[in-house]
Amino acid sequence: MTMQYEKPAELYAGLRLHQNEHTGGCSRKVLQALARLTREQIGQYPPYATAIDVCARHVGLAADEVMLVNGLDEGILAMAIAFLRPGSDGPAPEAIVPKPAFEVFDVAVGVVGARLVEVMPLSDFAFPLDGVLSAITPRTRAVIVTSPNNPTGVSTPVAAIQTIARRVPTGAIVFVDEAYIDFGGQSFVPAVRDFPNVVVGRTFSKAYGLAGLRVGLLLACADTLRPLRLAVPVYSINVAATVAVVAAIEDSAYREDYVRQTAASKALLYDACARWGFQYWPSDGNFVLVRTGERTKRVLDGVNGREIYLKDRSGEPGCAGCIRMTTGVLDHTKRLIAAIEEILCGEP
Ligand SMILES: Cc1ncc(COP(=O)(O)O)c(C=O)c1O
Repeated sequence: MTMQYEKPAELYAGLRLHQNEHTGGCSRKVLQALARLTREQIGQYPPYATAIDVCARHVGLAADEVMLVNGLDEGILAMAIAFLRPGSDGPAPEAIVPKPAFEVFDVAVGVVGARLVEVMPLSDFAFPLDGVLSAITPRTRAVIVTSPNNPTGVSTPVAAIQTIARRVPTGAIVFVDEAYIDFGGQSFVPAVRDFPNVVVGRTFSKAYGLAGLRVGLLLACADTLRPLRLAVPVYSINVAATVAVVAAIEDSAYREDYVRQTAASKALLYDACARWGFQYWPSDGNFVLVRTGERTKRVLDGVNGREIYLKDRSGEPGCAGCIRMTTGVLDHTKRLIAAIEEILCGEP
């Protein structure tokens, strides 16, 4: 994974289809809201009540069931700090992660000294419920699931999450990462009040185009959020993010247009993959995992040469010869498809 400050400068130019960002940028209404910030607002520590109320209404929960975080990355680390720190003696707490998964989970689990328990994928990337259930032990403190999953785009059934939540030991949680839920799949949020041991994570980095401002949410019963609130700095989210998130939520037309473009982009890429003979997994996210097989290096080198960046996921369990491609803004997807077409046509 890319650590802070390690990103080569050239990745800021070109077409960034490697991080599942909104490559069209944020809504203009977000920029207008940022321009309205006053000198006084910037001079003061940020108030959170308005942003929390708007977010709570948006997800259908109460304000005390919502916690703002500095990007979902911070929410994941807070979860690890709150639930996965080892005690002074005894075996390390365990976190179960079905693979392949977002790499930040492994980092967060490792950095607090917990033990990562990986569950290997099924061949179609359907959620490996039996594997997860049989990995649960008395030392399990967290089960981390993602729906829709990154990098596969396959959703996790709500019923499977409920089964896991009923099986984990007392004191353990199920962390449901819903970074891509705006694009497809069924959210766990309506069930959150019935499952006090489930925490849902959301981000405004994807469908809302706010990745550069860093803002996400943790959603759970008020008591469940209590240890998580202690695990982040008091003023973790800056004032620009608080006004941007409100404007982004209010501009539902902008978001819906992007979600529509994402669906059209995926359909185009599926057709192209069928023409090229590449296996792909139908995705509920704003990206598609494509098995380019022995042509992986050729495709990656070819698109890089055209300043289009994709994510090689070949090293992940079940993902040999696979590239993850962000499929958001339609024109960007068309450019990607034309580039791959050109690369494959030029094959000896
Ligand atoms: C599954 C998943 N969770 C969390 C994140 C991080 O979101 P944020 O930008 O809010 O830190 C990402 C970003 O790619 C992701 O793919």
